[in-house]
Amino acid sequence: MKNFMYAALLALLMGGLGWSSNLAQAEDTIATLRGSAIKAQPNTPRIPRISNTDLKRMRNYPEQPPTIPHKIRSYQVDKNVNKCLTCHSRRATAESQAPMVSVTHFMDRDGQVRASVSPRRYFCNQCHVPQHDINPLVGNTFLDVDEVIGRLKPMGTGQ
Ligand code: HEC
Ligand code: HEC
Repeated sequence: MKNFMYAALLALLMGGLGWSSNLAQAEDTIATLRGSAIKAQPNTPRIPRISNTDLKRMRNYPEQPPTIPHKIRSYQVDKNVNKCLTCHSRRATAESQAPMVSVTHFMDRDGQVRASVSPRRYFCNQCHVPQHDINPLVGNTFLDVDEVIGRLKPMGTGQ
């Protein structure tokens, strides 16, 4: 038992040493996404603001879950409470003036419309997300279907 422990300790020590010398090498040679050497502490970017305009955004395709145009900080969604539904449920919308969850949210997996929101659609943030006020870090070449059709037209395929 004792021998085993020494062996384990030795292995650990050697592993540790190997790792730290690798790190020293890596520092000069590996490009990092942090924009600085591995050891240097880069400036922490500010936490961006949540976009809270209350204005609906265009959907990029009809089946897209719309992005959330308001803050959702501290909105509890768990097995006991669903804060989102206190405004977005069928019964709440007259008072909240929030758009009601659409009929797909009441469908079970067989497409049967149920009396209340289906468990498949209960955890809203699986599909709906708020947006931040930031410049995107990477470009995006997505074209929506109208743009794609627009591009095809000169080739004589569309009407
Ligand atoms: C206090 C009421 C309230 C709560 C709570 C609330 N919402 Fe909203 N939501 C609204 C209102 C009102 C709108 C309409 C736009 C606006 O005024 O922001 C809206 C808009 C939306 C939209 C945009 C719909 C569209 O057609 O573009 C989505 C998606 C949404 N909310 C999801 C959520 C989710 C997910 C939660 C929970 C994390 C939530 N909301 C909690 C009131 C609420
Ligand atoms: C599995 C993904 C999914 C989950 C979970 C989900 N949604 Fe949606 N939601 C969608 C999709 C997709 C759409 C757009 C197509 C549609 O209406 O079904 C949508 C549309 C909406 C709309 C716009 C309805 C309209 O007619 O303009 C609201 C509001 C909304 N969801 C709120 C919620 C809330 C609140 C929850 C949680 C109780 C929730 N959603 C859970 C996928 C989801």
